Amino acid sequence: MNQGEPAMPNPARTDEHEARIAGLLGRMTVEEKFGQLQQLAWAWNTGPGGGSTGAVEAAARKGLLGSVLNVVGAANSNAVQRIAVEESRLGIPLVFGLDVIHGFHTTFPIPLAQAAAFDPEVTRTDGEVSAAEARSNGIHWTFSPMVDVTHEPRWGRIAESPGEDPYLAARYAVAKVHGYQGDDLSAPDRVAACAKHFAAYGGAEGGRDYNTVDVSEQRLRNLYLPPFEAAVEAGAATVMAAFNTVSGVPAHANPRTLTGVLKDGWGFDGVVVSDWTGVQELIAHGSAADEAEAGRLALSAGVDLEMVSTTFVDHGPALLERGELSRERLDDAVARVLRLKLRLGLFERPYVEVSAEITAPGVGARAAAREVAGRCMVLLKNDGGALPLDATALRTLAVLGPFADSGDLLGTWALPGAPEAVPVLRSLREALPHAVVTHAPGVPADGSDVSGLPEAVATATAADAVVLVVGEPSEISGEAAVRSDLGLPGHQEELIRAVAATGTPCVVVLVGGRPLTIGDWADQVQAVVMAWHPGIEAGPAVADVLTGAVVPGGKLPVTFPRTVGQVPLYYNHERTGRPYDPAVPEEKYVSKYLDVQDGPRFPFGYGLSYTTFDLGEPALSRERISVRELREGATVEVTVRVRNTGDRDGEEVVQLYVRDPAASIVRPVRQLRGFQRVRLAAGEERAVRFTVGAEDIGFWTNDPAGVFTLEPGEIHLHTGNSSHARAHRTLRIT
Ligand code: BGC
Repeated sequence: MNQGEPAMPNPARTDEHEARIAGLLGRMTVEEKFGQLQQLAWAWNTGPGGGSTGAVEAAARKGLLGSVLNVVGAANSNAVQRIAVEESRLGIPLVFGLDVIHGFHTTFPIPLAQAAAFDPEVTRTDGEVSAAEARSNGIHWTFSPMVDVTHEPRWGRIAESPGEDPYLAARYAVAKVHGYQGDDLSAPDRVAACAKHFAAYGGAEGGRDYNTVDVSEQRLRNLYLPPFEAAVEAGAATVMAAFNTVSGVPAHANPRTLTGVLKDGWGFDGVVVSDWTGVQELIAHGSAADEAEAGRLALSAGVDLEMVSTTFVDHGPALLERGELSRERLDDAVARVLRLKLRLGLFERPYVEVSAEITAPGVGARAAAREVAGRCMVLLKNDGGALPLDATALRTLAVLGPFADSGDLLGTWALPGAPEAVPVLRSLREALPHAVVTHAPGVPADGSDVSGLPEAVATATAADAVVLVVGEPSEISGEAAVRSDLGLPGHQEELIRAVAATGTPCVVVLVGGRPLTIGDWADQVQAVVMAWHPGIEAGPAVADVLTGAVVPGGKLPVTFPRTVGQVPLYYNHERTGRPYDPAVPEEKYVSKYLDVQDGPRFPFGYGLSYTTFDLGEPALSRERISVRELREGATVEVTVRVRNTGDRDGEEVVQLYVRDPAASIVRPVRQLRGFQRVRLAAGEERAVRFTVGAEDIGFWTNDPAGVFTLEPGEIHLHTGNSSHARAHRTLRIT
């Protein structure tokens, strides 16, 4: 894959580590081995040890615990670590994990927003800042990046994902792994990454969390697996199993994916961790009869470390005794956990330096979060140059809406205790010192209260311009936060219509964790900015974009449908035998809805700027290439010229898509295979180059053994600034 990222090797296996692992395995009892395969949750797993943390401490003391999640703080983690290191028989250190998804103290924009930046540097920055803050607090390992490609805006976890495209998701995955891990996991500012949820969790039917996924082999391999493979290649130290079934087999009990694809196929020698009680849930799934069977299925399939449920430690020794578990598998799982600890340097430095603990977002971290948030925003509409706001002419600005003066802009998976986001109202007041900035929330984020509408309308009427900050609260985004309606909750759309009807120019800033259906209200306002859940520096970043200090350049990493009834709607869909043709809208027997205009409200890859860009036709370095040459590593260069035709400096995301018009398996109408976010001064022109190779042209077949094929024929290479890229050249594969 043409990822444009510096290659970093897998964490190397060292003879020294392997010798130490072998030595330890030789000294461990069966119980101690299963103990290493147990992860308990701090303040959650209760037990006879007494108190909510007693069970964790008791298990650590007996050497029956490998890992703990959710212990936070240098002093706390050191205290628990001391029990394992100083009081257990073998003194094997614990590894502490936590969901540091888009920030520790410094909350960055949600992952979906980061994907919208089309700039892996953004994600690497989050990874680096998060890793340094987390590790200094005793966290060795984050359960991130989540790299589940999804077509489901109803699914709350789309907020945690990089969206609907496997190539973009793979670039995101690589950047996040590099950001967290660097090239030395034992460094005091690095944490181990975890690519999750393996596999196809984003395919949940109906978007209902944890739901069934039934997927063809080719779709599994072409759509869901590439970001995981990229993460593993980039050196991700761990992988988490998914809650869903894949074609009838729960991911936690699936030897084909966990062992066949991941471990044997990709050579992954790190840890597969279960999801929270995911092993025990094999019973509820209807795949295991009892806990012993659940443990046997999961461990045999390839899960190495059990999160929260305790089937491995409770039943493993008896299963082994009865010959229902192999000793090799047990030792392999233990070796993987020990290898992770060795890579993290925990045997040498089990404790964290309390005096070096980062206790709040630093100035540099905040500045990074602000810059990143600005880069993630997507300008969806900007009629008549309504944006940027004209700071010199603006006397009164009304900042309205339930999220205008709100700190609830961190999004899902902000850590408990993380500082709230800076509100937009405060930042606009600071950014526009010469204007009077008025405020009224209008309506709450949800619910039926409309008593504030008249005040909002009056405030809008008295102003020169309005900024309306509306959207989704964080709590209806994320895990188990599934919606059947993608509109703005409560009476927010009514608020927009009422304010727009005043005639005062109106800019809508949308916050949220998923594609929202943007109804007719968008026709009544002048500009719309998708700000996502922008994180701790939400206010300053929104103010930067609205005032033009930052020129927006983000692009949608997911399709925005017109109505929820169109879902799933995604740009990289397969063709039907009866595709809809916009030139013949009256044609009935084609693939379309009767009651909604065809296509998305905004397509994948779309986003405007305060300047304009002109993209030329692509040029190819060669027009023919053979399958053999491709197999041997030959590539084709695609060049496209891009010119900033406006009078402001700005950034454009130049995108390359491939299309295979006739193949043994019907291929998507477009597949993203390259992007570059380029900064161009007003009037500047530049050539952007992409390299296309076998991985960009070939595809996985339905062969369960995993066959990647390259077929002779035509390939269309499209370039443009959204997935509607029209300009193309044909490459002939011989
Ligand atoms: C989520 C995981 C998360 C785990 C630990 C689960 O509910 O699915 O993504 O890492 O909890 O908090």
